[in-house]
Amino acid sequence: MPDSAERLVILTDDLDRATCLAETLGAAGAIETRLVTDLEPISQRPARTFVDIDLSSGPSIASARRWLRRPSIAASTKWILVGGDDYRERTQALALGADRIVPRPVEPEEVLSDLRDIMAVEFGSFLDRFENTRLAMGLRAGQDVLASVFASLPRGESLDASAFDDAALLIADALAEEGLGNWLSTVQLHHSSSFRHSLLVAGGATCFAQFIGAGRADQARVARASLAHDVGKALIPLSVLDKPSKLDPAEEAEIRLHPQLGYDLLVKSGGFSDDTLDVVLSHHEMCDGSGYPRGLAGAEISDLTRVVTIADIFAALVEVRAYKPALSHASALDIMAGMGAKLDGDLLTIFAQMVLGEHGPSAVRRPSLDG
Ligand SMILES: [Fe+2]
Ligand SMILES: [Fe+2]
Repeated sequence: MPDSAERLVILTDDLDRATCLAETLGAAGAIETRLVTDLEPISQRPARTFVDIDLSSGPSIASARRWLRRPSIAASTKWILVGGDDYRERTQALALGADRIVPRPVEPEEVLSDLRDIMAVEFGSFLDRFENTRLAMGLRAGQDVLASVFASLPRGESLDASAFDDAALLIADALAEEGLGNWLSTVQLHHSSSFRHSLLVAGGATCFAQFIGAGRADQARVARASLAHDVGKALIPLSVLDKPSKLDPAEEAEIRLHPQLGYDLLVKSGGFSDDTLDVVLSHHEMCDGSGYPRGLAGAEISDLTRVVTIADIFAALVEVRAYKPALSHASALDIMAGMGAKLDGDLLTIFAQMVLGEHGPSAVRRPSLDG
């Protein structure tokens, strides 16, 4: 499994001040904070280096410059913090080779949102290496739709349902041709957890539809609903959504709003099918009635939603996060089997057969994914 946790280094001349920046960046990746006067090498090459020093201090600038010349750091992109509108500090930051200037005080949501956008662009360039293979076309289409969600919803703009339809077909075709393994391993290389998660869920659920022999139109319905399942998260602050530690009760309550928020947004946008709306609203419901937001149980939850729920939990378990390693597919399935009556046992059995590559005949119930 590739290691997709973004590696970030903070160089500082004041460890106390850098704590605040480290807390913000913890939502985006694995952080290593170092004093500029520290001569020990870093443990791994970072993708990005954040320089948080006093830019009016000659010794701090000289120490930072030495760090930035190290081969392990030189290839990373450099984000340098400056004091508000201070022209001299900006000039100094550019002289140090800043790729990006970040004004103090740091606005966590702005920095995290910028990082997410940049990671999306970088993943797009990575996909260019695949040229126009079906895999690259499906992933690019999925990512572009998710990018439009993150850009539009916080500004109160509507979503284009037809863009989801188009992407869903490309995703279904990519999975039909390339298989789930290639999809999962390529998506895991995406450095942004916001994109990675929805693309993993779309892969797992759509492949499930293919595994049970659903036609192309039904595969696309599953792809569309699973791609959309977490759209409500676009309205949750990134500092909460990707927090690298346990959520407090208030943050937990905020996250749990995302199914209803997403549902309301799609209804307002118009053009989304009932089954997509149902998945968006109910993918955190559990078969035993212990889920949210409505505490639905049994037959109140559609087969399509149950499948997306299974793909959702599987994706969360096999994903790399800054604060947790990825579980193997087999370990993830073991944990899910241990969830008992919360998940649909028949569907989970088929899902496990699909993930583990067991294509033999199954004695378990085949679901209906019909609209
Ligand atoms: Fe969700
Ligand atoms: Fe999810």
